[in-house]
Amino acid sequence: MEIVVFGAGSLGSVLGGLLAREHDVTLVARDPHAATVAADGLLIEGAREAHVRPAATTDGEALSADLAVVTVKAFDTRSAAETLATGSYDAALSLQNGMGNEPTLAEHLPCPVLAGTATYGAVLEEPGRVRCTGVGEVVLGPREGGASAVADRVGSAFDPAGLKTTVAADMPRRLWEKLAVNAGINPVTALARVENGAVLEPPAADVARTAARETARVARAEGVDLADDEATAAFERVAAATAENESSMLQDVRAGRRTEVAAISGYVVDRAGAAGIEVPTNETLAAALEAWERGQNLG
Ligand code: PAF
Repeated sequence: MEIVVFGAGSLGSVLGGLLAREHDVTLVARDPHAATVAADGLLIEGAREAHVRPAATTDGEALSADLAVVTVKAFDTRSAAETLATGSYDAALSLQNGMGNEPTLAEHLPCPVLAGTATYGAVLEEPGRVRCTGVGEVVLGPREGGASAVADRVGSAFDPAGLKTTVAADMPRRLWEKLAVNAGINPVTALARVENGAVLEPPAADVARTAARETARVARAEGVDLADDEATAAFERVAAATAENESSMLQDVRAGRRTEVAAISGYVVDRAGAAGIEVPTNETLAAALEAWERGQNLG
């Protein structure tokens, strides 16, 4: 299968690199990462190891492939969608954090847009070298739920590349479950500057679990069947599997970059407001991260 991974930072490079063991992959990334991969290949270290030679470019315009895998930050989805629309794809799959990505992609792209979640831990160590810091899984399917031949085809292409992949008929619920995972792990690890495993221990565990539970409550208000204990179990599973990972939000804070807090905790706060539900923990976490972003003149 021809696959373009659009936004190959840490996660996109791990996933794209693993897919390149079986498929014809092009990474769309920033320089100097793109130039290094194009010249010397991509080295994956850690929990998964490979040295692969995907194509790599900074120019995502007018590409064509069977599948576009989108791994840009949530706040870059619109611009990614506009660039992808200059090319031609049989399908697109979002493996991003946060909510609202698939509708934005679908507004711009004529092909089917699949929803997906990825719970791998990944760190871009240096140009051309990425570390897999936790083996998770990919879950994908039609964004409105149900089954589709396109989702089945993508799932069958991912499995032989060594990506543990589930094709799911309940993607709306899966997206909320992943949102609960991110709402628990990301802001807490970013504010406390700790690895994911720390959110399983006191004193962070209470805050993180409460953020995940609040997210489940909002999901239910939106008609999604996600129980509190299912949300906290998912949060605990991912935090344990990626215990030594620095979350993407912590990596962003350390690098002085804008974070995805608006699409994670901020989204929970917005939807809770619309439903008349109180989510004080998500509100506090979102406010603290947004204050940090303002202090850095980001966002
Ligand atoms: O954003 C992240 O870092 C990831 O979604 C996850 C799965 C929480 C691993 O750190």
